[in-house]
Amino acid sequence: MLDIQHIRKDFPILNRIVNGKPLIYFDNAATSQTPQHVIDVIVDYYSNYNANIHRGVHSLSQEATDAYEQARIKIQKHFNAKESHEIIFTSGTTDSINLVANGFSSLLKREDEIIVSALEHHSNIVPWQMLCERTGASLKVIPMNENGELMLSAFDALLNDSTKLVFVNHISNALGTINPIEYIIEKAHKVGAAVLVDGAQSCPHIKPDVQALDVDFYVCSAHKLCGPTGVGMLYGKEDWLNKLPPYQGGGEMIAEVSFEKTTYASLPHKFEAGTPNICGGIAFGVAIDYMNSIGFDNIAKYEHELLEYATEQLQKIEGLKIYGTAKEKTSVISFNVGNIHPYDIGTILDKMGIAVRTGHHCAQPIMDFYNIPGTVRASFMFYNTKKEIDTFIVALKKAVMMLS
Ligand SMILES: Cc1ncc(COP(=O)(O)O)c(C=O)c1O
Repeated sequence: MLDIQHIRKDFPILNRIVNGKPLIYFDNAATSQTPQHVIDVIVDYYSNYNANIHRGVHSLSQEATDAYEQARIKIQKHFNAKESHEIIFTSGTTDSINLVANGFSSLLKREDEIIVSALEHHSNIVPWQMLCERTGASLKVIPMNENGELMLSAFDALLNDSTKLVFVNHISNALGTINPIEYIIEKAHKVGAAVLVDGAQSCPHIKPDVQALDVDFYVCSAHKLCGPTGVGMLYGKEDWLNKLPPYQGGGEMIAEVSFEKTTYASLPHKFEAGTPNICGGIAFGVAIDYMNSIGFDNIAKYEHELLEYATEQLQKIEGLKIYGTAKEKTSVISFNVGNIHPYDIGTILDKMGIAVRTGHHCAQPIMDFYNIPGTVRASFMFYNTKKEIDTFIVALKKAVMMLS
């Protein structure tokens, strides 16, 4: 059993008053809140050992380097990567995906095919479209059904010897669907295709084991799991990371430079050009420690209770339609009420101190599938409560009354 009131004390922002009301933060799928432990580490870094890493002989630089590399090892252990150099620090999920997409430019041929799913965030669509433009390869899409689940028989039919890459998110940010990535990875590997899993939405709820999954690339952003913005990671199997060319050129990623020829550093530095987000990387590691101290099994169980409770309450509201009713679902609820524009509902809820997201959630193909401009999205984390859901339901009913 989680002691939620105790946990809430770790998050100073949850004491905020917004528009005269206590904040209810239900926009966790966009970004999670930051516990004091992580805030303290950021303050400590800039107060005590801010220095550039990997290049200094002085003490501060060595302290910063040690803390940064320790964070890499924490992340390696958390995801159960075989080697710490298989963890590349990036600025986030989007950056990680672009790194891989850019690398495949020199590995794909015109006749190759790559597969994405209909449930993707734009950041797991656009870089692959750009890759197709560069290489001439074609993009195929795994369709979804009305519940917001991927149609696996259609996926099976898309796979063939020309399939080189498959990209799918672990959890859909717009609908909360948990995708059967084990199945997708196994089937893709049978035709020799590599798989990249976008873990932006799964990392706050699930502890993935990249070796057990046998996934080729797994990416996420720290800010979705109680860490800071502007930092994330790419896990890649060592063989793949060695095959991919560097993403950006600059300091840190080289072995030797002359005007005739430059050779590249070994992993992970080959992909980490320039001064990284040092403090962010260290804080990412601490965020992972924090999440593990609560326990991912506890988190998943409690958030599932919140999901079921909120779904039940929302379904009682006349005219409310939930989009995304997959059997395997995380604590994200997308909905509309009658013909009311989601933006109007979101604006009125904000006046009552409740933060939800409205719009297409960077997943326009999903909105097109349902033929809607967008949804209201409430997404819960382990620090939310049933009492907050009750307040939200009352506020939502008020908003609906005002707008009908
Ligand atoms: C499924 C999914 N993929 C990718 C992203 C992009 O993450 P970031 O903006 O941190 O790069 C998000 C962000 O919401 C997401 O939900």
